[in-house]
Amino acid sequence: MTGQDDAKRVAGERAIAEYLADGLRVGLGSGTTSRWFVRTLAKPVADGLTITGVVTSQTTAEVAAEAKVPLADLNDVLELDIAIDGADEIDAAGNMIKGGGGALLWEKIVATAAKKMVALVDDSKVVEKLGKFPLPVEVIPFGWRSTERHLRRALADFGYADPKIELRMRDGDIMRTDGGHYILDAHLKQIDDAPALAARLNTIPGVVEHGLFIGIAAAVVIGHPDGSSDIRHF
Ligand code: A5P
Repeated sequence: MTGQDDAKRVAGERAIAEYLADGLRVGLGSGTTSRWFVRTLAKPVADGLTITGVVTSQTTAEVAAEAKVPLADLNDVLELDIAIDGADEIDAAGNMIKGGGGALLWEKIVATAAKKMVALVDDSKVVEKLGKFPLPVEVIPFGWRSTERHLRRALADFGYADPKIELRMRDGDIMRTDGGHYILDAHLKQIDDAPALAARLNTIPGVVEHGLFIGIAAAVVIGHPDGSSDIRHF
């Protein structure tokens, strides 16, 4: 296991200790950090912790089933007490880039269905400015090249003259999200006004969702490779 894996594990353990209690309805994130968190839930659940999970991806559903975490459909639960999920980058205001694993749409639906969203990261994810990590933009397959053209126009208005935008592939095929959509990864290097960019991206027809999570996280649990962790509130 690498130091960063240790940091992810520690963040998950701290989140369980700090935030979980009997009866809570919990959004279960996606990605490697969330996988540690969900796997770590196996023991407390076996020991009697009664939570109900709502997943943010098919992959997390499989991990939760292995850990024997009881699951419910968001349509039946409607409101969650807490959502706990990883991030690709998080800044000092708690704004994040998510979607490196392709689950951003379900993640945003679940995060905003929760009274409180807590991000789980290893300390390499904490940044001064968002944008080094490519920004995932989830688009409808129909007319996606036209949507990409609109995306380029919107980005040009924000000073990105000719950014690299990649259609995400997996095993030689276009990657489809759990919702059946494509992902365009926009390499922006630095995002100076993430809230404004997020609002603009929301206006493009064909864009289903994007990976800017603005004002959603209430706290972040940061794990460090030395086994320590800290929590910041927003
Ligand atoms: C999944 O789509 C993502 O939003 C993940 O939450 C994010 O990419 C963090 O993933 P890792 O924990 O694997 O870094």
